[in-house]
Order: sequence, then structure tokens, then C-alpha cells
Amino acid sequence: MKSAAITLTLNRQLVHAQVPVQQTLLSFLRDGQNLTATKSGCNGGECGACMVLLDDEPVNSCMVLAVECDQHRVDTLEGLNETPGMQALQKAFLDEGAVQCGFCTPGMLISSYALLRIHPSPTEEQIIQAMSGNLCRCTGYQVIVQAIQRAARESLAPRGT
Ligand code: FES
Ligand code: FES
Repeated sequence: MKSAAITLTLNRQLVHAQVPVQQTLLSFLRDGQNLTATKSGCNGGECGACMVLLDDEPVNSCMVLAVECDQHRVDTLEGLNETPGMQALQKAFLDEGAVQCGFCTPGMLISSYALLRIHPSPTEEQIIQAMSGNLCRCTGYQVIVQAIQRAARESLAPRGT
């Protein structure tokens, strides 16, 4: 199979790699870079479990080729874990009981992180719209919406005196 050399900024590190031209970004992350927080669900752009940020935009990594990421920036949950915004979301998901089996959670966190960066205080409608590409078989979604609302509130709240 043909391969190509790519250079990308992955979780703030410059990465050079030789990748098969047909390899998806999802496969590159999980199999090539051992970044397994990004989940492989439907492999068809339907479930959102494989969501990552590509130049700050949430994308389904199963629908992007690794070669398309040449000279671009990719961020996965592993790279965002220590940011205050992601930590607030993770705490809120736990506090609201928005994690059951957890399979959808990395993708949910990426989509909601991207939303709160643009809309720090989103309406319920904006949350539902932003999360419409992320499927969850377990929670019924309401607690996920509540978790995002809680993270937004707690991120905006003034720090204790
Ligand atoms: S695995 Fe990519 S959208 Fe489902
Ligand atoms: S918590 Fe199980 S799929 Fe969402």
C-alpha cells in the first residue's frame, strides 16, 4: 500500500510519521500513536465516539485521513486532560452521573469542550445542537446536558475568596 510522510502538531508536540495513504486519523491515533482515549465505535461518522479537535474544530476522526492532517493541529483527550476547561467538564460529568459505560464519554467531552470555548455560557438549545453528533446508549442525554450546564456555571463562577 502507498504511504506518505506527514508532519502534524499532535497534543502540542510536533510529530513526523510515515502513514498508509488510506489510514484514518482514528487508526493513526489509536494504532500508530497509542492514544486510545479516542474510541472506535461505528467507523462511519455516525456515533461521535472518535471525536477529536482538528485545528480546534471537532471532527469524527474515522472520517478523516491521516494524510489530510499534514501541517495541521490535532488534539485528543490525552492532550486536553490537564486544561482547566476539560477538568471542569470531567468533574461535572461525574457529579451529574453523566457517565455510565463510559464509551461515549471521550467524544462527549471533546464536543462539549469545543462548545464551551466558543460559547462559555451556552443555551440548552446550543448544547443540544453541539452534541447532536454524539450518541449515548446509556444515559438518556439529559444528564449530559446538565453536566455541560454545570461545567459552564462552575467555570464562570468567581474563584473562592
Ligand atoms: S467511530 Fe467515528 S463516528 Fe463513530
Ligand atoms: S455512557 Fe454508555 S454509551 Fe454513553
